[in-house]
Amino acid sequence: MNIISINLKEKCYKIYIERGSLKCIGEKLKSVYKSRNVVVITDCNVGKLYLNTLRESLLSAGFKVNSISIPPGEKSKTLDVLKGVYENLCKFNTRRSDIIISLGGGVVGDLAGFAAATYLRGIRYIQVPTSILAQVDSSIGGKVAVDLPWGKNLVGSFYHPDAVFIDPEVLVSLNDRFFSDGMSEVIKYGFIRDKSILETLASLPSKNDVLNNIEDIICKCCNIKKQLVEMDERDLGDRMMLNFGHTLGHAVEKYYNYVKYSHGEAVAIGMAAITRRTEEMGITKSGTYDYMKYILEKYVLPTCIPDLNREAAVDSIALDKKSSSNGTLNLIVLEEVGKARIMKVKIPQVQEFLFLDETK
Ligand code: GLY
Repeated sequence: MNIISINLKEKCYKIYIERGSLKCIGEKLKSVYKSRNVVVITDCNVGKLYLNTLRESLLSAGFKVNSISIPPGEKSKTLDVLKGVYENLCKFNTRRSDIIISLGGGVVGDLAGFAAATYLRGIRYIQVPTSILAQVDSSIGGKVAVDLPWGKNLVGSFYHPDAVFIDPEVLVSLNDRFFSDGMSEVIKYGFIRDKSILETLASLPSKNDVLNNIEDIICKCCNIKKQLVEMDERDLGDRMMLNFGHTLGHAVEKYYNYVKYSHGEAVAIGMAAITRRTEEMGITKSGTYDYMKYILEKYVLPTCIPDLNREAAVDSIALDKKSSSNGTLNLIVLEEVGKARIMKVKIPQVQEFLFLDETK
């Protein structure tokens, strides 16, 4: 088992990375909590596959288990679905001393975490991420949120889990599209911080080979996330590096109503678009874009910007939470493979960083 500790001023918690750990969560929690009431929040797809295993583990450790299942997908990350979660928590008579477990990908984790942060002014919660994206990124670092019609994650909080249990075995059930989706975030870590991740990804011939090596890959990503979150818990400095590709990515996701492109696909488009432009501008070392295109395509991710209305995209980018108040945006750009930096760009100039000049 690999254990990574997240050490913050006001909270320390551990990430446990172990194959088969889903079956042992009950025993682990039993020694830590007095309460024997757990509410598992999941989605219908993940619930069908893994809720029973988790429930059995909790029941045999003496917990009483209630569960809430939401429809899968980004469309569920809304105030309406959250209201339904609160209603169920009330119906189950959930108390402050009880525990929420989030079992699912990024959507479930963000929504369940936000419910935990706000219900009764905050109750403890555990993250059990079941997608690559959630295992390497969203389950760690305490960002919890729901979307509003005006954009992603516009209502949220920083609220850390008590622990994160990562069981790489659950990834075998990911279909090819959601495997690629998660690999986009892994590729992001490689480009912003650690090119050895990309070397590994380039050397592995198939999805199966990646899954056979996924523990090491997850560990590397989680260690990068640990460093950035410990340095900058509130996302005001270095942590913003994790948003590489996300500025345009979020706009693409929203423009297509969260249906056409998954988060990872949209981030891949965002990473490729900005790197292509910054390389042309001389900010990024030559050859970086071609290497990125090669890796993204190897993992069946899109690299071309879709046909979207640029003004609408820039409007939604301006509302992105990373905008600063004085009309500038913190864009993450690469200097070279494995090295990112933050660049402050005035909102009217953002287009130049993301879109090719079609007049040339
Ligand atoms: N997912 C980006 C962050 O946690 O900062």
